[in-house]
Amino acid sequence: MIATDRERRVALVTGGSRGIGLDIALRLAGEGFAVTVAARKEAGVAAAVARIEEQTGAPAFGVAADMADETALGTLATAHADRFGRLDVLVLAAGLGAEEPVGAIRTTAYDLQMNVNLRAPVLLVRELLPLLRTTATAHPEHGSRVVALSSITGVAAEAGLSVYGATKAALLSFCETLSLEESGNGVNATAVAPGYVDTDMTAHLHGRLERESMLGVTDVTEMVLGLTRLSARAVVPSIVISRAGSQLWRA
Ligand SMILES: NC(=O)c1ccc[n+]([C@@H]2O[C@H](COP(=O)([O-])OP(=O)(O)OC[C@H]3O[C@@H](n4cnc5c(N)ncnc54)[C@H](OP(=O)(O)O)[C@@H]3O)[C@@H](O)[C@H]2O)c1
Repeated sequence: MIATDRERRVALVTGGSRGIGLDIALRLAGEGFAVTVAARKEAGVAAAVARIEEQTGAPAFGVAADMADETALGTLATAHADRFGRLDVLVLAAGLGAEEPVGAIRTTAYDLQMNVNLRAPVLLVRELLPLLRTTATAHPEHGSRVVALSSITGVAAEAGLSVYGATKAALLSFCETLSLEESGNGVNATAVAPGYVDTDMTAHLHGRLERESMLGVTDVTEMVLGLTRLSARAVVPSIVISRAGSQLWRA
């Protein structure tokens, strides 16, 4: 642990190598947070760490961890705690989706989405809860926060995304329970549920959907930054971000 880190608020961002997670990590670092970035691929993690340090000057630490691997989740939690000894904001952005109708769901795709989108966030929160609690006790004004990237698909069903939507609906419920159990200890949780965001994840939609009609990563990031500025007394169970147009409840 380095001495200067004691002065800074600290974040851990899963899925921090690309897309929404990278933008959140960059902006948190820009606000002065020290940041741990986690993703599956070592090269992506290293590139994100270098970019964060170069653009913001904030300390950044990278851990390559497959969210589907329980041992890797434990290693990530320990590595973060050893490096920074503090956790003000845990952003759970690692995720993936497979588009297939219910009649054609592949068991392997089901297992992967469940493991990465739901099991990993739950196990990681369990492992990091002691650190979130001690951080909230030491810094009672803001407390500590968990922000999970859900999806509007977890609120309103989308054909072809049954399993993905089920994992995201579960995250909404999980965040509510976490706030019920832990907000008295200064630990709050929020599920952020956007419609389609223009990232690698939605690149396959470019023929079907105008990129300009999608949300930008900054639309999500601004909400996350806002959450980090709230007092520990403010519980925000969920934030839905819909896209402009004549249908409110669609991805
Ligand atoms: N884009 C959208 O339209 C949209 C809308 C609503 C919600 N969301 C949610 O927002 C989150 C971020 O989405 P995004 O659009 O930014 O996705 P993205 O651009 O595809 O980035 C996904 C991130 O998750 C990481 N990741 C994927 N599988 C992983 C695994 N097994 N272990 C560790 N890390 C893994 C990736 O790292 P590697 O490159 O190392 O695999 C990458 O950093 C996801 O949870 C997604 O479900 C997205």
